Amino acid sequence: MSPDAASASGSQEGVREPDGPRRRGGPALKADARSAVPDVCAALAVTATVFLFLFARVRSGESSTVAVMPFMKDAGAYWMYFLSQAFGWSGLLWAWITIMLGLLLSGPRPGRLPISRAGLERWHRVTSLTTLALMVAHALMFAAELVRYKAESTWTERFWEAFVDTFVPGGYSSGTGRLAIPIGQGALYLAIPLGLLFYVRHRIGPHTWRRLHRFIVVVYVLSVWHTLLYGTNVWYAEWPRTALWLLQLPVAALLLLRLLRPARRAERLTWPGRRGGGTDRPSPPRLPAWAARVAGRVAVGAVLVGLVAVVASGHDGGRERPAPAPSPQAPHDHGSD
Ligand code: HEM
Repeated sequence: MSPDAASASGSQEGVREPDGPRRRGGPALKADARSAVPDVCAALAVTATVFLFLFARVRSGESSTVAVMPFMKDAGAYWMYFLSQAFGWSGLLWAWITIMLGLLLSGPRPGRLPISRAGLERWHRVTSLTTLALMVAHALMFAAELVRYKAESTWTERFWEAFVDTFVPGGYSSGTGRLAIPIGQGALYLAIPLGLLFYVRHRIGPHTWRRLHRFIVVVYVLSVWHTLLYGTNVWYAEWPRTALWLLQLPVAALLLLRLLRPARRAERLTWPGRRGGGTDRPSPPRLPAWAARVAGRVAVGAVLVGLVAVVASGHDGGRERPAPAPSPQAPHDHGSD
């Protein structure tokens, strides 16, 4: 969720240095944060729209969240929970946008785009920062709702328990959240360093930065997994869940393309023992490294096939909407199946 391999590569063959205000090591965090203001405003507008949509659905009795947790039918009382959901959705949408931009930059050059490569890089950096802010806002609003909810405890207890439930892995102890919340925390805690390390890459070295930044895909996968597992608006086997699965198809397809035809020649797959096309690789890959790279490409291909199968078959892990809504065992608990 910050600039792609191309951005950090500097003098690497076939890849340019990122555009933007120059500091030692490239664009600086402060300058990018300033450029992110319009993007953040757009993200807040999207969040507000999603919030109003979710709120209206609660009021009209169509909300899946209320079907899962009937005590939430009072939209006014639980507005912070619905705002947390809205930040979750804008966060996921921005994560989708930024990962697509990153893959466009680090994969084969698209023939025609209405934006320059430098503009694409800048947009990638900016959307990465916005994504981080939205993820944090999503978690903070959930914590704020827990503080509000536990009105019978002292303020210290309320803050402490909300902090533990929200931010400490294993702290949330009921229902599906025992697994889903640590997955969300994993995404958040990995996103922060992997996104921001770009701004200190001159200290850690572009090579190290590039190696670490690849793991940003894990952040995205964890975010989607967390949502499919825990999002009450995609709880049932209905169109919102199908749409979420469908959105993953272009990501998997671009990731596969990026692996098969990376922009950086040094990353192209050559037979072990044979020198690659670029001059920036000192030695050919050894057999274990080569096998791991092939396995990675096969795995992503299998994921793509799996996604097509899920979307085509409709077997997407969604539950059947029950006739009488079930009662949860604990506050904010989505049950355990
Ligand atoms: C500390 C980390 C996190 C915590 C405590 C957390 C908490 C939660 C909770 C409690 C829900 C259930 C809301 C519902 O009833 O639907 C949820 C859903 C969701 N979360 Fe997270 N989350 C975290 C990280 C993330 C991250 C990193 C993302 C990625 C953008 C994300 C995106 C979402 C989305 C899209 C939903 C679905 C909301 C809905 O169904 O309307 N979460 N999260």
